[in-house]
Amino acid sequence: MSPTFAETLRSATMPAHETANHSSFVDALLGGELSVDAFAALASQLYFVYSALEETAEYMRTDPVAGKFVFDELTRVPSLRTDMRFYFGPDWESTITPLPATDEYCARIREAGREWSGGFVAHHYTRYLGDIAGGQAIRAKLRNLHNVTGPGSLFYCFDRIPSAPRFRDNYRELLNTAPWDAQERKGVILESVRAYELNVGIFTALAEKMPAYQL
Ligand code: HEM
Repeated sequence: MSPTFAETLRSATMPAHETANHSSFVDALLGGELSVDAFAALASQLYFVYSALEETAEYMRTDPVAGKFVFDELTRVPSLRTDMRFYFGPDWESTITPLPATDEYCARIREAGREWSGGFVAHHYTRYLGDIAGGQAIRAKLRNLHNVTGPGSLFYCFDRIPSAPRFRDNYRELLNTAPWDAQERKGVILESVRAYELNVGIFTALAEKMPAYQL
């Protein structure tokens, strides 16, 4: 039986996933080598990324194809705002700034995400499906290493999604039934790989700051 589009997307992006997942910043973070400031720095960059993603989701909400992927229960910006206040205090908005790599990623989300449904879904898939899966490893580190539960880790908590496996199955079904032709499906894969690369760009920039975070 030939693979479904969701299976093809998953396998075609697997090398990019491996690279992202084993970038030196993520390795150090999951290896328990870094202070809570590193988690805060990552979350602060994700605040900008999700602001771009969720702004684009609003724009695409009424699109007949992309709109099916706009799930309110995924929304991360309100949780990130609470996490930012926890880490940086009431003036967090004037404290955090996007890294150049983050600006580049946000610009691409806004550009590709408004251009066509597949561009939006590629960026949506790469982040949210990753958060539901691998993000949970980061949440566990925050809890076990730094005693951060609740505010500070809300970004990783999808309490409006009762079953992650069921959510993922439903999402894969949406990927499989979206009316993209072969060329468009290829475009979704390429844009997802690009999204991974843009994530790696942020990890690389954060890795340069690692000496300040070493425990
Ligand atoms: C923190 C390190 C990471 C770990 C430990 C991790 C782990 C995992 C695991 C175990 C899965 C499989 C879940 C399943 O099929 O049930 C997964 C899926 C996924 N991850 Fe990651 N991941 C990490 C980082 C990332 C990053 C940085 C991204 C992208 C920004 C990402 C994007 C994805 C996506 C899109 C999927 C869904 C693949 C699919 O089923 O189509 N992950 N991750």
